[in-house]
Amino acid sequence: MINIKVLDHPLIKIKLTVLRDKETNHTEFKANLNEIASLMVFEMLRDYKTKDINIETPTKTKTIGQTFDKEIVIVPILRAGIGMVEGIQNLVPQARVGHIGLYRDEKTLEAHEYFYKMPNVSKDSVIIVVDPMLATGGSAVDAINKLKQDGFKNIKMVSLVGAPEGIENLKKHTSNIDLYIASIDEKLNEEGYIIPGLGDAGDRIFGTK
Ligand code: PRP
Ligand code: URA
Repeated sequence: MINIKVLDHPLIKIKLTVLRDKETNHTEFKANLNEIASLMVFEMLRDYKTKDINIETPTKTKTIGQTFDKEIVIVPILRAGIGMVEGIQNLVPQARVGHIGLYRDEKTLEAHEYFYKMPNVSKDSVIIVVDPMLATGGSAVDAINKLKQDGFKNIKMVSLVGAPEGIENLKKHTSNIDLYIASIDEKLNEEGYIIPGLGDAGDRIFGTK
């Protein structure tokens, strides 16, 4: 079973509109993507169970504060996922970062892994997989299943735009994950692009086209 939450806060919708606009250049694109990533993780952590810690304030008063009860690891799917990391680290600076390199074959649309590196953390850590695009879902399925094979149990995925086909693929081939998404779009086109979507996220972030 996967838990899907569509995060449709007005600020997310407004910034997503900037990303969808073909006139947005890569500088603005990257800035807005990071801002949306912050907003999405803010919403995602709303129900996070913190643990109590004892602290003393400058008024020499002892009080109980809160901290994370688990290690947080952000795992961008390369390349486009990198465009969301800084925005999340702005809110959760203590988070570590793992990387999964996957590229989609332009013809077959199948994902191929070329890199995998996770920090040395407990398998109970909270893993936040980030990738702005969930098209066929092949990359997300491979990334999540790779992390599961590696022993990670607590996996959440944050994506910006998804196609119904990709969501179905995730439902079929993964289980026990929470998916946070800003928009479920209409469909995929013949080339595997999300419609209306926002084009090739990696190219738009890094200005490679
Ligand atoms: C894009 C995107 C996702 C993937 C989504 O990456 O960033 O990772 O495609 O497609 P899927 O759901 O059909 O797998 P791409 O492979 O183009 O690599 P890039 O990020 O390096 O450009
Ligand atoms: N990858 C992208 O970057 N955009 C799409 O629309 C589909 C896959």
